Amino acid sequence: MQPVRPPVRPAFLILPLCLVAALAACLPTGGMRPEPTPTGAEDFASFCAACHGPQGLGNGPQAASLPRRPANLTTLSARNGGSFPMTRVMGKIWGYAQHDGQVMPQFAPLLDNQNMVLFDSGDGISTPTPLRLVQLGQYVETLQR
Ligand code: HEC
Repeated sequence: MQPVRPPVRPAFLILPLCLVAALAACLPTGGMRPEPTPTGAEDFASFCAACHGPQGLGNGPQAASLPRRPANLTTLSARNGGSFPMTRVMGKIWGYAQHDGQVMPQFAPLLDNQNMVLFDSGDGISTPTPLRLVQLGQYVETLQR
C-alpha cells in the first residue's frame, strides 16, 4: 500500500514567497534609479558661482571677462526695502525677466522637466514650480546680509 503524502500546508509556500518579494524590493534597480536632485547650494556652485562668486558677491572668476558686472546677490533684500524679492530672483534665473544686453544665461532649459513642487512665492497662489528653481531661490535668500 502506498504511503499517503501529507498535503503541503499553504503557509510553507507563502512564507518563502514573501521573503523573495521582500528581498527583491531591496535590490538596487540598476540604471533605473533617477539621479538625486542637487541641492540649491550644489546648483549654485555649478551654475552661478563662476560669475556671481561662491558667496554671491559678484566676484566669480568669470566676472572680469563679462560685458556687465554680475550682480551682488547678498544685497538683494537690502536693495528691496528689507524683503527678499523671491519672485524677481526666480524670474531672473528662469529667464523670463530677460532683456536686451542680457549677460546671464537662461536656466529654464536646464531646470525644466524636473521635479515640480507647489510653490507660493508670496502672492498666496501656489504654482507648480521646478524644485531646483525654488531651491536656488531659497539658497540665494540665505546669502543675504
Ligand atoms: C555668465 C555669467 C552669469 C551666470 C552663470 C549667472 N549670472 Fe546672474 N547675473 C549675471 C549678470 C552679468 C547680472 C547683472 C546684469 C543682468 O541683470 O543681466 C546678473 C544678475 C542676476 C540677478 C539679478 C540681481 C538683481 O540685482 O536684480 C540674479 C538674481 C542672478 N543674477 C542670479 C543668478 C543665479 C541664481 C545664477 C545661477 C543659476 C546666475 N545668476 C548665473 C551673470 C551671470
